[in-house]
Amino acid sequence: MKFENLLIEIKDRIQYITINRESKLNALNKATLAELHIAFSDAFENLAVGGIIITGAGAKAFVAGADISEFANFNVDEGTALARDNQRKVFDLIANGNKPVIAAINGFALGGGLELAMACHIRIAAETAKMGLPEVTLGLIPGYGGTQRLTQLVGKGKALEMILTADMITAADALQYGLVTHVVRQDQLLTKAEELMLKIISRAPLALGAAIRSVNAGLTNGVNGYQTEIEEFGKCFGTEDFKEGVAAFLGKRKAEFKGR
Ligand code: COA
Repeated sequence: MKFENLLIEIKDRIQYITINRESKLNALNKATLAELHIAFSDAFENLAVGGIIITGAGAKAFVAGADISEFANFNVDEGTALARDNQRKVFDLIANGNKPVIAAINGFALGGGLELAMACHIRIAAETAKMGLPEVTLGLIPGYGGTQRLTQLVGKGKALEMILTADMITAADALQYGLVTHVVRQDQLLTKAEELMLKIISRAPLALGAAIRSVNAGLTNGVNGYQTEIEEFGKCFGTEDFKEGVAAFLGKRKAEFKGR
């Protein structure tokens, strides 16, 4: 499929998704969100893809938020539908994906942009990046999972301070808060993301999916994460990759995982 707002490339089993609306600081309009739904659905199904790296085009922004011009005249029902539909089709889709997703935050990650990064499994940032949830400056609150995921990542006190003040934080602060796990020079951002992803996708693919599901389960209301872990752990024993992993260890050789 040809995308208008995304650049897509697959290299060494990594799918790169670059949000490509640089003149609008990669703001998430309806068309871009629809394309993200398709691109991630395809990537999660494509056997040639081991993991996904998402970033923004240009040096200025990862994503400067939801496209404000599109919801300026929304009413209560339209606002509710906007959050509900996009949470499900994009943000939860990514968070619950069966393959690892790394956000390479190359600049502003604001509002829906930070929420997009937080839906990913791992975040790394350029030292010039700025992050924040400025929705209250618009008379809104975060609507793409931000109140929940920021709290999970940095704790209630810091999350509420960020959301209530609407202040942006630096990449160094984000590292200290645990919102990102690495901060690197802007020109090293994709190299670092690749290095991390290549290591991750050298591991057993089905085990990666099981680990993501188990971690997510503990953060899902009404789901017992320990029970999910027991079941996912057990299922690993039925995979070819488990047999290969153990045989490789005992044979003192590198495992050749097949994702089966
Ligand atoms: N939605 C729609 N358009 C946006 C946007 C958004 N979230 N963020 C930036 N843009 C557009 C601007 O309208 C401008 O378009 P124009 O050139 O056609 O006028 C273009 O992107 C460049 O942005 P600009 O504001 O001129 O850049 P800046 O360097 O002065 O400021 C920011 C950068 C990120 C501080 C500023 O763009 C901003 O505050 N954006 C909104 C952030 C936000 O509130 N996001 C949460 C949305 S829920």
